[in-house]
Amino acid sequence: MLKGKPFVKWAGGKRSIIDKLIKLSPDNFNTYYEPFVGGGAMLFELSPRKAVINDYNEELMNVYRCIKDENKFTSMCCELNKHEKNHSETYYYKVRDIDKNKNKFHKLADYKRAARTIYLNKACFNGLYRVNSKNEFNVPSGKKSKINTYDGINLGIIYSFLNFNDIKILSTDFEEAVKDAKKGDFIYFDPPYDSDTSTFNSYTENGFGKEEQKRLSKVFKELDKRGCYVMLSNYNTSLIKELYKNYKFNYIEAQRNIGAKAKDRGLVEEVIITNFENKRDI
Ligand SMILES: C[S@@+](CC[C@H](N)C(=O)[O-])C[C@H]1O[C@@H](n2cnc3c(N)ncnc32)[C@H](O)[C@@H]1O
Repeated sequence: MLKGKPFVKWAGGKRSIIDKLIKLSPDNFNTYYEPFVGGGAMLFELSPRKAVINDYNEELMNVYRCIKDENKFTSMCCELNKHEKNHSETYYYKVRDIDKNKNKFHKLADYKRAARTIYLNKACFNGLYRVNSKNEFNVPSGKKSKINTYDGINLGIIYSFLNFNDIKILSTDFEEAVKDAKKGDFIYFDPPYDSDTSTFNSYTENGFGKEEQKRLSKVFKELDKRGCYVMLSNYNTSLIKELYKNYKFNYIEAQRNIGAKAKDRGLVEEVIITNFENKRDI
């Protein structure tokens, strides 16, 4: 089966540890839930028949919706070709700053907003997605004079995946996104990571602090009680050790690409926590 790849570079993207994640996943499950889907590395690799995908980032989920809709998909690609042709530092800032005028921004067609999101992701510094407290994208321009915004074959594969399977696309809070999960469903949580020191976690205007980590652990436990397969990625901090002490910890060393300072980029201990024993053979 042809599988898609993430169409944006996303902080915390899971491509580099995808084999480990797949190996730890249950062999069989009903509906797949990914409430913090981001660039979708795990979603595309698993390619489930039935899934509910979600991210609080409305601009990102609008891209998924546009790829799924044939007309919007075509218009989005034409718009991306335009962005590629016009690309320069000045042009980047012009496109980026459209969201400073909320009225104008909300009137933009979905496909234009989707193309803007992909273009900014490809042209900005380090592929970072960061917004300020007013939800305005505030990453400076990268240095590339020419950019490639999409791989048509990959987007075609994603279009087919989203249309030929039963994939529900949401953009809400993680707790709301998993409220209908039932026994036998598989939920993979890949939240903004906890940290004992401060690191990047402003994917959305709200951030994701200790209280959010605690709320997430309650949802994890509730899903465990319901009989779901639950898996969660995070850093192995003191809080995470405490919150999930009754579950299985799988340790991973992974290279992180986005950190606040160069010294933060390097090997850090990541964990994949599960409420089940895996027997998958790959
Ligand atoms: C670590 S990233 C996920 C990376 C993703 N697994 C990938 O491979 O690209 C965390 C994601 O959580 C989203 N997020 C932050 N707060 C959220 C919330 N309360 N509910 C749902 N999603 C949230 C962010 O927008 C971000 O995309």
